[in-house]
Amino acid sequence: MNNNNYPNWLDRAVFYEIYPQSFKDTNADGIGDFGGIIEKLDYIKELGCTALWLNPCFASPFGDAGYDVSDYYRAAPRYGTNEDLKRLFDEVHKRDMHILLDLVPGHTSVEHPWFKESMKAEKNEFTDRYVWTDSVWEEPTGYGSLRGISDRDGSCAVNFFSHQPALNYGYYKPDPAKKWQQPMDAEGPQATLAALKDIMRFWLGLGCDGFRVDMAGSLVKGDEDGKGTIALWKNIRAFLDAEFPDAAMVSEWGEPDKSLQGGFHMDFLLHFGPSHYNDLFRCEKPFFAGEGDVSEFVEKYKENYEKSEHKGLICIPSGNHDMDRLARTIHGDKLKVAFAFLLSMPGAPFIYYGDEIGMRHVEGLVSVEGGYQRTGARSPMQWDSSPNAGFSAAPKSELYIPQDESADRPTAAAQMADPHSLRSEIKRLIEIRQAHEALLSRGEIEFVYAKKNACPLAYLRYAGDERILVVINPSDREVSFPCEFSPTERIYSFGGELRTDGKTATVPACFAGFYKV
Ligand code: GLC
Ligand code: CA
Repeated sequence: MNNNNYPNWLDRAVFYEIYPQSFKDTNADGIGDFGGIIEKLDYIKELGCTALWLNPCFASPFGDAGYDVSDYYRAAPRYGTNEDLKRLFDEVHKRDMHILLDLVPGHTSVEHPWFKESMKAEKNEFTDRYVWTDSVWEEPTGYGSLRGISDRDGSCAVNFFSHQPALNYGYYKPDPAKKWQQPMDAEGPQATLAALKDIMRFWLGLGCDGFRVDMAGSLVKGDEDGKGTIALWKNIRAFLDAEFPDAAMVSEWGEPDKSLQGGFHMDFLLHFGPSHYNDLFRCEKPFFAGEGDVSEFVEKYKENYEKSEHKGLICIPSGNHDMDRLARTIHGDKLKVAFAFLLSMPGAPFIYYGDEIGMRHVEGLVSVEGGYQRTGARSPMQWDSSPNAGFSAAPKSELYIPQDESADRPTAAAQMADPHSLRSEIKRLIEIRQAHEALLSRGEIEFVYAKKNACPLAYLRYAGDERILVVINPSDREVSFPCEFSPTERIYSFGGELRTDGKTATVPACFAGFYKV
């Protein structure tokens, strides 16, 4: 595929994202834990997922749900110990599955000892660990900053919330008039990079299978077209090739043409960036709600697909901890049609916990741990009909985030018992994907029909001798499209049957079908 080591298990991988706080609590403190994840591994495996991405689980004051790390080497006590996490790795591997941790290389918590040291007036080992100006009256342009809280005279750039100081990987082209802007090869940035490698070494050594990398495209400053950051990741790629050739890397970047050049195996299409991902599920008229437009998404996808030259995978998530729940905008059978798309596209699919049962966005919540509007997508998993939907034995008032209170809230148990549920459909779709080479991560794609404001969406997936026509119609109307293929075998269909006469195909309303051609 390319010159960097590629973990072959990615070809068949279907990922499941776990937000550890909200998955399963085993000690009745209202917060999910490693033990809970271990308890539910069989549930994830039964669904057909082969790999996990775990949101940050490291020591943190949790001002941004753990994306503000205060000790990269220690599991957050509320989830368990490093030994418990190691046990989770082992249990995952016992089931032939893989697990990615969430690496936050761009910033730390203000409580990280590195930052405390770097705030000191006297020069020390950590003075240049973060991006500081040399006067409190000067702020780093283009970034927010932390000012007036240190003895050190300077403002420190922040990456996200104002309590997340930016680690210093240097400036791509430092402004000579601003001495504090260091080149990437200066001592400070190089020490930060070395520290990052040590962290990766530690967790990969303990048995994790790789990382999802937070804000991967933003490490080098003053780097609009990403050249510096790509070079930085190439350097890390060389380190991984030498020491951990099996490690799998997926970036939160949203620009596969850049991230894959940097040596990532996978990049996400996201709710931000140029991908038009939101057109599908999260905008005023999402395509999968039945009335929207898919053509701009497809145009951009094709562009990315070509530019990425098969260097790696473009991954489309059902959602994540930063977006509204999928079921906020897509309802009923349309969710099944949306998953037929997600599970028949190239790249490794990512299912956000709870999306497999259509968990709803919980509206009107007060922000929890820096979640703000994201809080509603982070509510505890609904397992069954017992108190707190089986998430926790804590009193309801002590749950990490309040749950969906509706009487008809979906649960995993009910959906597992119902062959017509969303979860059962997803399970079927994963089985079908896994049984067909053409549908796997690296099968090719060619779009057959994707017209402005029209349905259906049709594409061909192929590998070797196998060619599969996928037809997706989320609209409430029967539609047709010019189609010269003659299906020889139906592999999957939901919502009726495709009719073809060698020239035109007629597609039922709210339908998804896969056919060998
Ligand atoms: C990423 C994470 C998000 C976090 C932010 C800052 O976008 O997914 O949850 O708040 O980075 O680390
Ligand atoms: Ca707990």
